Amino acid sequence: MILAGGSGTRLHPLTRITNKHLLPIYDRPMVSYGIEALVQAGVTELMLVTGGTHAGEFLRLLGNGREFGIERLEYGYQERAGGIAEALGLAEHFVGGDRVLVMLADNVLENSFAASVERFCAQKRGARVLLARESDPEHLRNLGVPELDGEQRIVRIIEKPKDPPSDLVVTGLYFYDSDVFEIIPKLVPSGRGELEITDVNNWYVEQGTMEYDLIEGFWGDAGESIDSYYAVNDFVRLNGANKK
Ligand code: G1P
Repeated sequence: MILAGGSGTRLHPLTRITNKHLLPIYDRPMVSYGIEALVQAGVTELMLVTGGTHAGEFLRLLGNGREFGIERLEYGYQERAGGIAEALGLAEHFVGGDRVLVMLADNVLENSFAASVERFCAQKRGARVLLARESDPEHLRNLGVPELDGEQRIVRIIEKPKDPPSDLVVTGLYFYDSDVFEIIPKLVPSGRGELEITDVNNWYVEQGTMEYDLIEGFWGDAGESIDSYYAVNDFVRLNGANKK
């Protein structure tokens, strides 16, 4: 699944006239990088969820997906900015009892995450997240941050912590078994009125079935702020993305 909805308020006024995930990163619309990364990691069946007033542009860009290497492409529409977990809930029928890889379309990586896909396939059950090292506390306060125990297991994830418990971020790449669709209907909206993916992740943490990999190389959330958007642009223009 690739999630390309939300209201993109942190990138206003740019996102008053388009969807955040259609803004350019170097020479392509932002969402293209996520799709390229997923296809590179072996994904051939993809559901894209968007919302708002620019949904038609995704169809114009992606068509039936063949040009991008996707065999089955489905579109979903989120009626309101109800959160990442709510958007994921729209994929229940599409996923059909299988496992699912979820990517937020504003996340851009230097390197392929194909090795994590293999590890998740080998994992019997549960979930897996990709973490990235982040030394700047200002970034940490805008993202999901895991707290680790002495054995380096995640003990909880805190969304937008005032006081970050580690120098790691939970990136927008999530792997779930089919239990995820039983958890989503039980979630309660957070203070920002959204069903939080961090609550889903903490459920797996409590079950003891949450695994993780640490990303090597650059990772950026181009929707975090206008400065992050430009940091991702600068990186990609100089170095490229999704390297094998
Ligand atoms: C979301 C997640 C957050 C994660 C981030 C990664 O944040 O809630 O845990 O670290 O994506 O891009 P949001 O973009 O909704 O603020």
